Amino acid sequence: MTVDGRTLHFTDTGGGATHPPIVLVHGFPFHSGVWDAAVTALKTDYRVIAPDLRGFGKSELGPADVSLMSDFADDIHALLDGLKVPKVTLFGHSMGGYVVLDFVKRYANRVAGLGLVSTRPGPDSAEAAEKRLATAKKVRAEGAEFLIADMSAKVLSPAHRKDAEMVRAAAGFMTPAQPAGIAAALAGMAKRADMTSVLSTYKGPALVVTGDADELIPAKESEAMSEKLNAPVVVLHGAGHLASLEKTVEFDSALRGWLPKVK
Ligand code: MLT
Repeated sequence: MTVDGRTLHFTDTGGGATHPPIVLVHGFPFHSGVWDAAVTALKTDYRVIAPDLRGFGKSELGPADVSLMSDFADDIHALLDGLKVPKVTLFGHSMGGYVVLDFVKRYANRVAGLGLVSTRPGPDSAEAAEKRLATAKKVRAEGAEFLIADMSAKVLSPAHRKDAEMVRAAAGFMTPAQPAGIAAALAGMAKRADMTSVLSTYKGPALVVTGDADELIPAKESEAMSEKLNAPVVVLHGAGHLASLEKTVEFDSALRGWLPKVK
């Protein structure tokens, strides 16, 4: 689809006319392929849409050098309008969760269900934001390979980091070919707003999923988020930040077990 003159790539599979379609929003620095196993597990019963956020995968960044979470959310909104889909269940992984919370805040009437995976509602500390901007500068100067080498290990649990095949699989879901997109998302994350209030204003069905070995966003933050949302939390034992890859079967069954609550 073309949105504001930019190509926005997405996959759209499966069926399930009686249920709102599911939109899976990837994290940083991934592309929509990170959801491949989940798409396979869900598409027999549900329509599943997985976009590449601007500047990731096959989606173009466009002229801006900052991708705000609201920009990503607006692209999803435009995608739903383009597909003539009135309401969806949104899942967001990590940065995808930041995007989804921004979407819920501004487009609540389009949200039938909310899934937050290994994410947090709060903004960066001043120190974290500064570090991100320094990384963005380095990515613009040197390319994204160093970041992908670092992230493809960090997103896994300490045990899974020793599994070369799993590290390779995680790296394969990332987008080294778009350093400008990566730098723009880093700058956007550094500027993101506090979305904690959305957790108490959102009244629909929600699910929180995390891994107990997540070193990027500790599981206790997900537990706190689930309390504020008044929603169940599934803590996957032995999973790091990328539970959908590290504990595929348990991850997919958590989603499938909860989805019937969304009408
Ligand atoms: C992600 O997986 O999307 C990132 O770890 C999020 C972040 O850097 O805050």
